[in-house]
Amino acid sequence: MAQPLFKFTASSLLCVVAVALISWSFQVTESAIGVNWGAVSFHRLKPSTVVDLLKDNKIPKVKLFDADPDALRALMGSGIQVMVGIPNEMLATLSSSTVASDLWVLQNVSRYMVKGGADIRYIAVGNEPFLSSYSGQFQSYVMPALLNLQQSLARANLAGYVKLVVPCNADAYESSFPSQGTFRPELTQIITQLLQFLNSNGSPFVVNIYPFLSLYGSSDFPQDYAFFGGTSHAVTDGPNVYYNAFDGNFDTLIAALNKIGYGQMPIVIGEVGWPTDGVISANLTAARAFNQGLINHVLSNKGTPLRPGVPPMDIYLFSLLDEGAKSVLPGNFERHWGIFSFDGQAKYSLNLGLGNKLLNNAKNVEYLPSRWCVANPSRDLNDVANHMKLACGVADCTTLSYGGSCNGIGTKGNISYAFNSYYQLQMQSERSCDFDGLGLVTFLDPSIGECRFLVGVTDTSSSAFEPYQRWLTFWVLILWVVLVFIM
Ligand SMILES: *[C@@H]1O[C@H](CO)[C@@H](O)[C@H](O)[C@H]1NC(C)=O
Ligand SMILES: *[C@@H]1O[C@H](CO)[C@@H](O)[C@H](O)[C@H]1NC(C)=O
Ligand SMILES: *[C@@H]1O[C@H](CO)[C@@H](O)[C@H](O)[C@H]1NC(C)=O
Repeated sequence: MAQPLFKFTASSLLCVVAVALISWSFQVTESAIGVNWGAVSFHRLKPSTVVDLLKDNKIPKVKLFDADPDALRALMGSGIQVMVGIPNEMLATLSSSTVASDLWVLQNVSRYMVKGGADIRYIAVGNEPFLSSYSGQFQSYVMPALLNLQQSLARANLAGYVKLVVPCNADAYESSFPSQGTFRPELTQIITQLLQFLNSNGSPFVVNIYPFLSLYGSSDFPQDYAFFGGTSHAVTDGPNVYYNAFDGNFDTLIAALNKIGYGQMPIVIGEVGWPTDGVISANLTAARAFNQGLINHVLSNKGTPLRPGVPPMDIYLFSLLDEGAKSVLPGNFERHWGIFSFDGQAKYSLNLGLGNKLLNNAKNVEYLPSRWCVANPSRDLNDVANHMKLACGVADCTTLSYGGSCNGIGTKGNISYAFNSYYQLQMQSERSCDFDGLGLVTFLDPSIGECRFLVGVTDTSSSAFEPYQRWLTFWVLILWVVLVFIM
């Protein structure tokens, strides 16, 4: 009896060890949840406030759309890993000259990679440069820019540590079934070159996936297929069944990579998220459901039918903060992608899987005084149309639109909202609430229900003073030269 019992114990011990090892290795390779930090906003939080917000929420990775010196300086010493972006408009220059790429690396990477500096791990070369609506205008610059930058990184002794990537929109590949995924025919050659490059440098393929846009763009897209809660519209693809659009899209990419021999390429999701305002399908409930479902799905390590057990390496939520100055060309939702509002306040409860059960709000936000500009109730408002047009042409009024959080606050409410948006954008200057006498400053918060009338924040980041300091230094030098000459 003893022997079988011993065997049993030994094998169960082995089992326990194996399970421990497997879960340990899973922990080591666990996907990281990061965020995109964009700054196309009228009311910018101080970069140090944003970095504190990241730290309070234990967010380990951040992606920037350009090498904003204020952001990078604020990230120094934070321990947060950074992906720095290069705007598409710079690709032509960087592709044509190694001097330009050397300077770019020197000014925007090396400078910060000092002891206690910023931990830059990736450089995103262009942002969705193959997007079909760009009609190929950036396409020919991508490979030469990558090659120049790789040499510059090598000269700066950073080539092993900082990796070059190219975030692609999911419109780079297509198919009605995941297993049939292929890259757009006109991209096959350049994508093949890109994959060779990425593969030889140990870089991942970065892709942006937006089930929201699929739902928004197509009236027959099944609503529940965009989310992660199970669907009555599962997609059957041979032996595989897809229960959500994210997995279907991800595997379409895997199939496309497989076709050109890079089926094992590691994948990073550069942008993924759900907006909260401006159109019907963009709301708090949906955004919370999507983002929480996504995070739980990725952290479950389930993977997808074509990559079982291997979720994306990292995902970067789009986005950290609302950006009220973005173009609304894509739709009225475009200024409302943040998991936090522009002033760093959590919009809904979200467990990022990083230790906090809820999001922590930004601390020590410096607001303008608590006052608002509204329509003067004692005035005839019939002639207000042009003022509304002016205000909403500059400031953000997208919450007023159908499906938005301020739709249905009435004609007067609409006017007040527009006036206030403009007034806050003008940093509450007295004249900006005039509107030919139709505006009135109030100290009572006009917010109604879900509709929030904002108060701006003071964006006195250090760089606002820099030009002034430079001029001062310049004149002091001139003065000194003049004095030396006279004496
Ligand atoms: C560094 O990046 C910034 C922001 O993208 C850009 O304006 C600047 O020109 C870059 N520096 C060089 C030397 O290219
Ligand atoms: C929120 O969005 C979801 C998904 O797009 C939609 O089904 C729902 O009706 C919206 N809720 C509201 C209150 O508009
Ligand atoms: C307020 O403005 C929005 C957006 O222009 C419009 O859809 C809505 O009908 C307006 N409300 C009233 C009562 O005029």
